[in-house]
Amino acid sequence: METLPGADEKAAVVRSMFDRIAPSYDRMNRIITLGFDQRWRRSLVDALGVGPNDTVLDLACGTGDFALIARQRGAHVVGLDFAGAMLAAARARCPEAIGLVRGDALRLPLANGSVSVAVSGFALRNFVEIPPVLAELARVLRPGGRLGLLEVDEPRSGPLRLGHAVYFRRIVPALGALLSDGQAYRYLPASAVYLPEGEGLRAMLAEGGFTSIEKRSHLGGAAQSITAVRA
Ligand SMILES: C[S@@+](CC[C@H](N)C(=O)[O-])C[C@H]1O[C@@H](n2cnc3c(N)ncnc32)[C@H](O)[C@@H]1O
Repeated sequence: METLPGADEKAAVVRSMFDRIAPSYDRMNRIITLGFDQRWRRSLVDALGVGPNDTVLDLACGTGDFALIARQRGAHVVGLDFAGAMLAAARARCPEAIGLVRGDALRLPLANGSVSVAVSGFALRNFVEIPPVLAELARVLRPGGRLGLLEVDEPRSGPLRLGHAVYFRRIVPALGALLSDGQAYRYLPASAVYLPEGEGLRAMLAEGGFTSIEKRSHLGGAAQSITAVRA
């Protein structure tokens, strides 16, 4: 089992890991999600009803997948990430109309109520703490603004759970070691422990000022999309 960083070192470890894997990040995402990750992002952006009247924050945007999809829907988009190499990859793919900012999810350089939609893909596990990030999202979203989160998850039922465990904990790290960075793709399954169990995320969102919280499972529970509305 991969040793996970302590809270005091997590941000620095996570940032340098994403700086290292940035060049192979998109290819690995497509491979390990069997090509489904972009479909999940598009369907989350559709569920949020993103359109030309929206200002969208792609939080922890990485290489800009969500930012690009939101821009294709006509929205004004800003992507924010703290890893310079991930942002550089985003800059190489995104049109100039998408604002890309280097910053920390814990201190968003955005005014109160300045965005109508916030999305974040596969990032919650990587934050040092989730509730302060939800508080920042609640601050920058206008009342009635929509939040969409995409994350890994674990199937609940026996056979699916076992198959998923073998794939996620054995095959994904082996593919990572072969095609990208072994340490990073051992961290990926191990970091699922940072996610609250069961209804924990729903409770965090409710406490953070969000309502209408809905969860959708993907691929038998291997991934999850959550939508919520800023009260
Ligand atoms: C797994 S990647 C997800 C990238 C992208 N959102 C996607 O859907 O593929 C996680 C991203 O979170 C970023 N990140 C982690 N903690 C952060 C923080 N505190 N502030 C800003 N970005 C952060 C990392 O740099 C990395 O690019």
